Amino acid sequence: MIIAIDGPAGAGKSTVAKAVARALGFGYLDTGAMYRAITYKALETKTGLDDQVALGELAKRSHLELSDSHIFLDGRDVTEDIRLPRVGGAVSVVSSAAVVRSQMVSKQREVAAALKSVVVEGRDIGTVVFPDAEIKIFLTAGAAKRAARRLAELRAKGLDVAADAVESELLDRDRLDSGRDVGPLLQAPDAHLIDTTDMTVDDVVRAIKALTEAADGPGI
Ligand code: DC
Repeated sequence: MIIAIDGPAGAGKSTVAKAVARALGFGYLDTGAMYRAITYKALETKTGLDDQVALGELAKRSHLELSDSHIFLDGRDVTEDIRLPRVGGAVSVVSSAAVVRSQMVSKQREVAAALKSVVVEGRDIGTVVFPDAEIKIFLTAGAAKRAARRLAELRAKGLDVAADAVESELLDRDRLDSGRDVGPLLQAPDAHLIDTTDMTVDDVVRAIKALTEAADGPGI
């Protein structure tokens, strides 16, 4: 069974997806981490972000390994590095390259097939990667709330970032993610819309669990 969770940055996808996976005993796949890892490598190797051919080659030569909440790039744990603001600032450009996306989508299908029951979070999971997912959720929240959550997350990591910079980065990213030609951020017609602005994590997890149980019977 696949539970697809899509939505804009800061809607709470990662927190919720991990909690749902834990509650149901499912695997968890963070597809944003994969795009971030490729972006991190592009920055490290000074690959031109507008050079689609080079980005495609770089993605092809990269070995990504995902285990729970950790991601390894060519054997190195880059879980922390991929959260750096400079990666967040470039990831929408890298992830708009069709040649990068097609490779990431193949890898995502491979990982999910191995996990069998899995919660997958991203932007195009219910529309492109798993259009037949049993449960599709589109998680959203007001922009101010999303920015506040992202700010708190970064500050908790000791990063000294300005609130307005965080909000404008988030909105820029949403605009680019929604506007790209391939795999844009989009609510699938059969996705359940959940606005998390005034909900706690527990509320959201409960709502998704209830939808899952209703779809599959009470036994899971
Ligand atoms: O979920 P996140 O904020 O860590 O994702 C980082 C970026 O990766 C996001 O701005 C767009 C891109 N992304 C994507 O294009 N497709 C996905 N399925 C997941 C993420």
